[in-house]
Amino acid sequence: MGLRKNLNNMNQKIFIKTFGCQMNEYDSNRIFDSVKKIGYEKTETYENANCYLLNTCHIRDKAKEKVYHEIGRLKKIFRSRKKPLVIIAGCVAQAENEEMLKREPYIDLVIGPQAYHKINDTILNFTEKKNKIEETEFDAVSKFEYLSKLKNKASKVSSFLTIQEGCDKFCHFCVVPYTRGPEYSRPFKQILDEAKYLADCGTKEIILLGQNVNAYHSEEYRLSDLILNIEKLTEIERVRYTTSHPNDMTEDLIEVYKFSKKLMPLVHLPVQSGSNKILKLMNRKHTIEVYLNTFDKLKEINPKIEFSSDFIIGYPGEDNQDFKDTFSLIERVKFINSYSFIFSPRPGTVAENLELIEKRISNERLEKIQNILYENQIQMNKSLENRVVDVLVENLTDDKSKAFGRSEYMTSVIFNGKKSDIGKIVQVRIKKSNRNTLFGEIITNTDQKVA
Ligand code: SAM
Ligand code: SF4
Ligand code: F3S
Repeated sequence: MGLRKNLNNMNQKIFIKTFGCQMNEYDSNRIFDSVKKIGYEKTETYENANCYLLNTCHIRDKAKEKVYHEIGRLKKIFRSRKKPLVIIAGCVAQAENEEMLKREPYIDLVIGPQAYHKINDTILNFTEKKNKIEETEFDAVSKFEYLSKLKNKASKVSSFLTIQEGCDKFCHFCVVPYTRGPEYSRPFKQILDEAKYLADCGTKEIILLGQNVNAYHSEEYRLSDLILNIEKLTEIERVRYTTSHPNDMTEDLIEVYKFSKKLMPLVHLPVQSGSNKILKLMNRKHTIEVYLNTFDKLKEINPKIEFSSDFIIGYPGEDNQDFKDTFSLIERVKFINSYSFIFSPRPGTVAENLELIEKRISNERLEKIQNILYENQIQMNKSLENRVVDVLVENLTDDKSKAFGRSEYMTSVIFNGKKSDIGKIVQVRIKKSNRNTLFGEIITNTDQKVA
């Protein structure tokens, strides 16, 4: 992939807007690392942009409409200005491909998640010849080979690192296997090099990403090997990974929790439903027994380990008993932080045309589920009041009056920290809490540390 030349005018500005999961965030950062090479700087203001890139998500309903709505907004902003180059990237781009160019002439380029290695050439080509192109081939190997040659400049205190992309599991509700392609694991060394570079640039926490992150396998290496090797980097204080599939919680990964010094005690393990009948209808390929077996093993290794999850409510066929089973599972596991959504039929998936359950019933069930999930979250945070937690300090708050960081369980913590605390792990005594945030005061005495 040749970086043939820069755009003539070096004063080019790109505005990148990102929807969707952390993998899209990682990609958006890496897209910027790429377009910088042809002369782009980032802008946070629409009006200043010569290029507007929308990185899209297709996971739930109205995803497509959201994109066209956003373009409508853009057109208004640029009504009396020179039109920017408009690029649609991400999962809607992959799913809709050239249809987008046909439906909305304001769009110039459409580029799927595994074609980002072509982004510079595509932009240069468009600027020279005004060729409207869609690039939606699945080519994860070239994508990551290209990206690994560019340094990951998105280094923050906490940085994402994609290690795996795509999915072969084909849950009946999910578009990911169609938008991200088949499962692909990046080479072990390529990932370690990127981790090392992030650490050299000041990253203290690495969050390993993949649509099925725990299915990672490259030669003889698995996710457990990556965790144990990344934590050898002295600058790295914390390691996390997301998102996992229950069937890929292999023994070696569970065992890592015995040895690892830096792996955080929060396991995000989406279960989707508490009913085996629904799991089967969803083609999840795991049972509640498998899930609880992993839960029990991890709790036995370290009772401090907590779980979070994703739930789909109102999947076609879900009756009252299935719903009660989900409720009971939540009471048993006491997830401390979870995402829950009503089932949304997705184009091209097996569940697309299944008969939906009544909307009123789904809404009622979602409300009940969210109430109990929120209650667990509130109780967990309340239990930390008057106790001391380790906080990795990420930044100052917007008004600069306080510092912001995260606990080991990823909960936001706001406290009286200073700029010099950024990047450090400090001890904070929690004074107050709400559902999403802990508020406290920094202390130096670590004797009373609990979480
Ligand atoms: N690979 C992960 C797993 O196996 O659980 C999930 C990745 S998916 C990007 C994130 C979440 O989106 C899923 O866990 C699921 O709860 C939700 N999701 C996916 N398709 C959905 C749909 N059609 N309707 C509602 N929620 C959906
Ligand atoms: Fe989607 Fe996850 Fe199922 Fe793959 S395993 S199809 S990403 S929900
Ligand atoms: Fe959305 Fe694609 Fe991520 S559909 S959740 S951006 S993998």
